[in-house]
Amino acid sequence: PISIDPNLTNCVPIKPSFGNPTIINCCPPVSHNIIDFEFPVNPKIKVRPAAHLVNVTYIQNYKEAVRRMKALPPDDPRNFYQQANIHCTYCDGAYQQAGFPNLDFQIHESWLFFPFHRWYIYFYERILASLIVDLDPNFAIPFWNWDSPDGMQIPAYYHIDPKSPLYDSLRNVNHLPPALINLDYEYGRKDQNKPETNLQIVYRSVVSTAKTPSLFFGAAYRAGDKSFPGGGSVEMVLHGAVHQWTGEGKNYGEDMGTFYSAARDPIFYSHHANIDRLWTIWKTLGGKRKDITDSDWLESGFLFYDENKNLVRVKVKDCLDTTKLGYVYQDVDVQWLNAKP
Ligand code: C2O
Repeated sequence: PISIDPNLTNCVPIKPSFGNPTIINCCPPVSHNIIDFEFPVNPKIKVRPAAHLVNVTYIQNYKEAVRRMKALPPDDPRNFYQQANIHCTYCDGAYQQAGFPNLDFQIHESWLFFPFHRWYIYFYERILASLIVDLDPNFAIPFWNWDSPDGMQIPAYYHIDPKSPLYDSLRNVNHLPPALINLDYEYGRKDQNKPETNLQIVYRSVVSTAKTPSLFFGAAYRAGDKSFPGGGSVEMVLHGAVHQWTGEGKNYGEDMGTFYSAARDPIFYSHHANIDRLWTIWKTLGGKRKDITDSDWLESGFLFYDENKNLVRVKVKDCLDTTKLGYVYQDVDVQWLNAKP
């Protein structure tokens, strides 16, 4: 097959992108026992809630789950920092493509972007949920609803308490509430967008400039291809803007603003839950807006540790229906659908 797989037996320390000279080793604990993904049997469908709409009990449980995850032994693949490192390994060249030792395995700016991050946060969520079954057997991670006017700030519980496991000191202090997010932000910009402008940017990225699968998902990336063939509209605009806007902007963008450190910020997973949610909405918009049918995409694979520390091989084709994975998104008002510029 010419679908793509990482070569996990050969993980190397990386030199981060964007000129950062630090060498970073983010390779995971090694396991030679890889199992193939199987769907959960009759999963009880969990609902991922909008981050700004959850109640106090939910927030307490969520914090407790992340606290327990951070408290796991450092070499436990379920540990929060190990989870964060997964992003580093798949994004900065720690893995090469199986069969192509000179080519990085890179999951950004190509058609792997949506499915990789869906699988990634799916396993992160399974691990978190497993750590608090005693508190909430139906726990699902919140999505940062930055595409809705009420969600256009960093949710309070991510930033007000420096002792909270959800806090991250490496965020742009000028962008803490009451600052409103800027959905076409790039480093250096000082202006803020109005909610209506943000809604128009979302409309453009998800609807008008994403009329076909390749415009939405990004360009094909097969075994033997060079990294970064081209990202889709949501990845390149909304996704990147939220990363850069949240990150501190010093030290090469840590945490959220650069690949190797982005997932060290707990808000990363809520940001990506929203990206993931936009995929589910996009598919309902009609026309050619459907998943890719090319088998090279469908058969592409990734590896993740699950909540039992098993290393699991997953394929893109198995993540296309979130209900089969056992989750949906809270149904909230989607105002940008009426925000045609
Ligand atoms: Cu893998 Cu939001 O980046």
